[in-house]
Order: sequence, then structure tokens, then C-alpha cells
Amino acid sequence: MALSKRFRFPWSRRSPRLERPEPSLGPLSAPPVPEPRPRHAEFRPNLPSFHTTATDHLERDRSDPLSRQRIRFRNAFTPAQPVVDPRMFAGRSEILESVIRAVEEKRSHVIIFGDRGIGKTSLLHVLTLAAREARYIVIYFSCGTTSDFSETFRTVAAEIPLLYHSSVSPVSSKSASGNSLADLLPPGKLTPRQVSDAAAKLVGTRVLVVLDEFDRATNPDFRRDIAELVKTLSDLSARVQLVIAGVAQDLVELMEHIPSIRRSITALRIPAMSDDEVRALIENGARTSGVSFQPAAVELVISAAFGSPYLSSLICHLAGVAALSERRQRVEVADVHRALDEAIEDFNRRMPPEVVPHLDRMQEMMVVAKKSVQRKESSTGKVGDLANFQEDPLTETIKGHLEKTGLFKNMPAEHTALLLDSLKPYVQLVSARNP
Ligand SMILES: Nc1ncnc2c1ncn2[C@@H]1O[C@H](COP(=O)(O)OP(=O)(O)O)[C@@H](O)[C@H]1O
Ligand SMILES: [Mg+2]
Repeated sequence: MALSKRFRFPWSRRSPRLERPEPSLGPLSAPPVPEPRPRHAEFRPNLPSFHTTATDHLERDRSDPLSRQRIRFRNAFTPAQPVVDPRMFAGRSEILESVIRAVEEKRSHVIIFGDRGIGKTSLLHVLTLAAREARYIVIYFSCGTTSDFSETFRTVAAEIPLLYHSSVSPVSSKSASGNSLADLLPPGKLTPRQVSDAAAKLVGTRVLVVLDEFDRATNPDFRRDIAELVKTLSDLSARVQLVIAGVAQDLVELMEHIPSIRRSITALRIPAMSDDEVRALIENGARTSGVSFQPAAVELVISAAFGSPYLSSLICHLAGVAALSERRQRVEVADVHRALDEAIEDFNRRMPPEVVPHLDRMQEMMVVAKKSVQRKESSTGKVGDLANFQEDPLTETIKGHLEKTGLFKNMPAEHTALLLDSLKPYVQLVSARNP
């Protein structure tokens, strides 16, 4: 009791509504605040607060250009989210073209693989938009450990109007009442053959089933059924095509059943972005947000990101926030340095403790790794496919180094993969910070 009297915890206050100052006092008599905050912030001045409401609205009387800039900047670089707005999608026209040609001309199924953060999901979003524009029915799934074949393809079938089934007349009541292909599927567990048979009867449309994050679908039955489905759909020339994407260093890692379906698929490895593509990513963000980047800052981002759209987006985001926090609308080299320090620290925190002592030694191999990346990137084609696939050299180097330390010995495969996911960007960022 005594304690709560002496220390007024902000959250022990009575309802803020009761303490709200009379509206008639008006903004002129409100206490001066250094930065605009939503109204609720007035009632707990010592705690950090949100700058804007969830609806992206600022308090009318308190909005200043900087806060508006913050809102715009938030949508300009989104390292934690794939690109959904095609205006923000930079580069990648070559690989997008390859995917579209594979779907449209080869009528093949497509497998897209590459590092985490290389832009697979963003590419799938843009592909989805392009395919819908061409009147494809596109159904997107993000796979997970619980992905189930029957459930997935009942959902797919439910999205396909019965109107497109060859046995149903366009004027029959079934299609008019909006029934779907799901109504024609047998009850119980579905087999790839049953799904293919139903799909083979589709006319007047084409369907793309996008299975993203396929590496997360660890259920062996699901994986085997998908491979079997690819095969039977191809055998029956059905108007349903799969686009499968996942994190993998190579195709077999993503799809162990590859040999049996090799002829039915086009496999594409998403390569690192070129310098110009990263430049375009930065330009898009700068244009949307109104925050400009000094040319030297752009070059530093390019050299630090190593062609990773995730790292580009992360560094630009952190650097922009650093500039805006100093009320500047131009990102300078010093802001990028701050961003790199912050990102490195963050990656560092994510490492398992037993790896940390080895991190310093990684510095030594960075220069070597960097050179080897540059050499290999220039010798492989830009759009990797089955023919020109090679293991990513930097990952190879890091793996080799860690294997020598014996760290991998007792580590489960998923942990090793996760560790490599963080180590590669870490190595890249440190090498940019200490060239
Ligand atoms: N073509 C692109 N243009 C702009 N930003 C991109 C592009 N591709 C990816 N990004 C950004 O990179 C990050 C990772 O992209 P994402 O598509 O989620 O990668 P993945 O699915 O391969 O892990 C996201 O922040 C996304 O905004
Ligand atoms: Mg993804």
C-alpha cells in the first residue's frame, strides 16, 4: 500500500480516460513535447511509445513532416516482410521471365530454390499477380511441419469453380450455384492419382498451386505425395501446375524424389542480386519514402549486402531510421556504418554461445571467401538451373571452417542449417564493416 503510494507505477494509474485533460484546453496549453506521439502517450511520459496509430494515422494537431516521413519510410524497406507491392519489386526480371516461360510455354512444374532472404516469396507474389492478370487461378500455400496432402488439395479444389470441369455444362445449376471441384473429390484421404484425375478434367482455365517454404514441410508422406502428384499431373497433361519454393543449397536437398520427376520440372536457383538490382531496390525505397541516400552510402550498402535483398533492405531500414532519428532526410555513410554495427550485433546475439569464440577467426577467411564468391558469380549464369547449379562458395567456405572446429559433430541438421543461415550474412556484414 505504502509502496504504491510512494511509487506511482505508470500502469497502476486509474483509467486514462478519467485523467484526460479537458478538451477545451486546446493544443496551445498542452505541455510541450519533443516529438509527436499518439494521445495515450501523454499519460505515461517516461516509457517508450508508438509514434503512430495502427491505422497509420497521426494525431492531426501533432503531426509533423518527420512523423509523416517515418510512416512512408516504414513501407519503403521491409526486411521482415516479402515485397507485396509490385512497384517495390526491384530487378529479377530475368528470373521472373524464366518462371513465366516455364509455366506458359514448357507447361512444366517449377521449383525455385535459394538462400533464405534471397527473394523467393517476393518473386512468388509478383508471379501470382502476373498469373492472375493472365486469368490463371492461383492458390498460394505456405508449407509447415503439419502440411497435409489431402487438406492442401481439398483447399485447392475448393478454389476451382465447377464451371471449369468438363463434365459440367456452363448453364447447369451446379456451376451457377458456385460449387467447386472439391465436390467431385471422394471422401477420406486423397491420393495424388485422385487429385490428378480430377485436375485432368479441367477445361477453360489453368491453375497454379504455389507451395512456398517447402523446406519446412518435413512430413515425408507429404513430400512423397507432392512428387507423385507432379508426375501424374504431367502424365495426364492436366491444367494444374505446381510452383514449389524453398530454402536449399541444391535441388535434391529440397526435393529428394527428384530423379523420378526430373523431366517434368524446371528448377531455378535464385541468384544474388546484381549491383544494379540492389541499386534499384534502394532507389524504389528512396522514392517512396522521400528519404534520399548519399551516393557513397548507396555504394556501401551494395558492397555490404552481397546481393542479398534481405540484407539490402535491412541495412537501408536501419540506416534510414538512424538518419530520421537525427531529423535528417538524407542517409549518409555514417548512418550505414551505424546500421552495419546494429545488424552485426543482432546476428551476434542469435549465434549459439559455442560458436561465438570462433567468430573472430572467421574474419581471416572473409577476404578469401569474398574473392571466391566474386569469381564464381561471374562464371555461373545469372539464372541458375539444374545444368549450371553449383554450391554457393561462401556457404562452402563457412561450412568447411566450422567442420574443422568440430562444432557440427553433435549438432542436429536443422540447427546446422539455421546456424549457416545466420553465419553467412554475419560474415558478409563484418567483411563490409572491416574491409
Ligand atoms: N525483388 C525485390 N525487390 C525488393 N526487395 C526485395 C526483393 N526480393 C526480396 N526483397 C526483400 O528481401 C527480403 C527477403 O525477401 P523474401 O522474398 O522474404 O525472401 P525469401 O522468401 O527467399 O526468404 C524482404 O525484406 C523483401 O522485402
Ligand atoms: Mg520466403
